[in-house]
Amino acid sequence: MKSGMSDDISTNLAIRAQGLSKRFGALLAVDNVELRVPRANVYGFLGPNGSGKSTTIRMLCGLLTPSAGEIEVLGLRIPEQAEALRRKIGYMTQKFSLYEDLTVRENLEFLAEVQGLPRARRKARIDALIEAYDFADRQKQLAGTMSGGQKQRLALAGAIVHAPELLFLDEPTSAVDPESRRDFWEKLFDLADAGTTILVSTHYMDEAERCHRIAILETGRLVADGTPAQLTRALAGRTLGVRAPEPRRAQSVLQKMSGVLSVAQIGNALRVLTAAGLDAVTLSARLRETGIEATVAAIEPNLEDVFVSATRHDGTEMAA
Ligand SMILES: Nc1ncnc2c1ncn2[C@@H]1O[C@H](COP(=O)(O)OP(=O)(O)OP(=O)(O)O)[C@@H](O)[C@H]1O
Ligand SMILES: [Mg+2]
Repeated sequence: MKSGMSDDISTNLAIRAQGLSKRFGALLAVDNVELRVPRANVYGFLGPNGSGKSTTIRMLCGLLTPSAGEIEVLGLRIPEQAEALRRKIGYMTQKFSLYEDLTVRENLEFLAEVQGLPRARRKARIDALIEAYDFADRQKQLAGTMSGGQKQRLALAGAIVHAPELLFLDEPTSAVDPESRRDFWEKLFDLADAGTTILVSTHYMDEAERCHRIAILETGRLVADGTPAQLTRALAGRTLGVRAPEPRRAQSVLQKMSGVLSVAQIGNALRVLTAAGLDAVTLSARLRETGIEATVAAIEPNLEDVFVSATRHDGTEMAA
């Protein structure tokens, strides 16, 4: 484990935030968050609606001034050095912000201009993006006439037209189909492979699963942080599969049982997440006391279990 903070700062961390808070009137939208995002990682940002993901991202980009805390991004102090950061980062939200009345190529040309890409390099860069992002046959198509998945791909190409070192993506895939999401994630890994750091917020567990590391926010607080494997491993023994003759009845009994954090029916079986200490044998015995003969066995925890456990108020906090 690393101890001193100063030696990581400009070397292997792209983002470091400490004590980061944001208050909007009476609401503490981000509450004392500490983040460390390693370079060239795909870092996932999870949390229920309103948990402070977008607010945190906007502070890290220098778009919003924190109420308290320290931020260092790519070695720059934010918000003080936000202007110098602008050219080094890309930012894309679910609203894609394309110019619908411009063609594919014109959108990229416009963004290259805005980002101050030297004129001499512009054409080669745009040609390369058009090729890599599969727009060779559509360069002259108006952006507004493309499908959701194509628009999203163009928005990503636009966000990286200046080859940023760091990319902030705020729910970039919320409006597209599973195939497009997969393609999009392949592009993200290509970028990370080439050294780009990516911070991406998402509500999709399959996307979270693919990240190098994830952080989970709940009402502005960081409640979990680690690799997907570390976080799921920390729940070992706490996810149980229950098979009972009457699953709906077993579910209603389980939901009222102390130590049970959540119960979900999956087909004919129940998936139960428990607080630490409630194991399969105990659960089975407790069900028997209510007249339910069930088979209970430990099953592999997944990230959804991690999410539920981290965002339930009675769940124990996790850090890895
Ligand atoms: N400019 C603002 N003024 C007042 N309140 C704000 C402002 N921006 C955000 N908030 C509030 O801060 C809280 C966190 O919002 P934020 O948009 O960061 O959540 P989120 O995690 O991105 O949610 P979602 O998953 O829905 O996108 C919410 O309660 C929101 O209403
Ligand atoms: Mg948001």
